[in-house]
Amino acid sequence: MESKSMDWANLTFGYKKAGPNVRCKYENGKWGALTFSDSDNVTISIAATCLHYGQEAFEGLKAFRGKDGRIRIFRMKDNAERMMLSCRGIRMAEMPVELFCEAVTKVVEANKDFVPPYGYGASLYIRPLIFGTTPRVGVSPASEFEFIVFAMPVGLYFKGDKETTPFMLTRKYDRAAPLGTGTYKVGGNYAAGMVAGAEAHDMGYSAVFYLDAREKKYIDECGAANFFAIKNNTYITPESTSILNSITNRSLQTIAEKILGMKVEKRKVPVEELATFEEAGACGTAAIISPVERIDDVDKGVSYVFSKDGKAGPVYKKLLHHLQAIQNGDEEDHFGWITYID
Ligand code: PLP
Ligand code: COI
Repeated sequence: MESKSMDWANLTFGYKKAGPNVRCKYENGKWGALTFSDSDNVTISIAATCLHYGQEAFEGLKAFRGKDGRIRIFRMKDNAERMMLSCRGIRMAEMPVELFCEAVTKVVEANKDFVPPYGYGASLYIRPLIFGTTPRVGVSPASEFEFIVFAMPVGLYFKGDKETTPFMLTRKYDRAAPLGTGTYKVGGNYAAGMVAGAEAHDMGYSAVFYLDAREKKYIDECGAANFFAIKNNTYITPESTSILNSITNRSLQTIAEKILGMKVEKRKVPVEELATFEEAGACGTAAIISPVERIDDVDKGVSYVFSKDGKAGPVYKKLLHHLQAIQNGDEEDHFGWITYID
């Protein structure tokens, strides 16, 4: 795809083949050299562990172009650290933080023309992934792995005709077990959410909020984003052993506390407490912040409404403003979140 033909104002979150991707193989107990590829195919054994037993992990991060034309990658080291945890969590060779960062930097450099211009609300989405390639039919971890980083320009993930978007909540499905793999960014978690996600879309919702699998009392997260809510100048977000430790959520907690002077509470959030929140949001790299219009508890027939007119709330606006201003370079990065690509 030619970067010159991009319609920056109307980008979707879908896959597009952009510039080169970067690859690296783990063989004989060590990672090899990073290489570039123009192909978006892989060749692996039909018995590779990733294909049968889901030995795969991925990450998602973004690069932004500022008013000054400079390209900024957001919190790359945090994604690298989380990928290491995911590798450990499903017995894959760990991707060293430095190698991860080098690969991401090289991909962004090679895809500079695909970083959307300032002012379109768009970004370059960077997708690192790692998977087991050893042929095994008995269930055991691979000893060979492949790491790939590709990038593509993207727009909004939850796109509707209003600022806010509706979500549903159900006890019918679980995404991850309390001591399972929910804290890791592994493919299996997303496969586990496909049925619930499709059901939500069919019913006109953006996504499903899952409850904690043990007691079905507390909000966990949705299939691609964390949950947060606002009440009494406090930013509240679930504490759980089955959700992803969202880097966007952590950034919003920092902005709420350090810039907006709010209180931050990370704790269990009972479903009934939804009735007391002034605002609610779903946050993640792809989702950015998606302000919640309402959450329908479809099992109980209760609707928790946060916006009656389709407009987002004032705290959401402030959080989004600072997050994007730091990402774009309109506001100084006091937290060491930005890596420049020049
Ligand atoms: N929760 C899940 C299940 C996700 O897939 C994502 C996306 O990465 C998030 C939360 C948000 O995490 P982050 O803000 O690090 O992108
Ligand atoms: C992200 O926000 O980067 C994600 O990975 C979420 C989703 C597209 C799976």
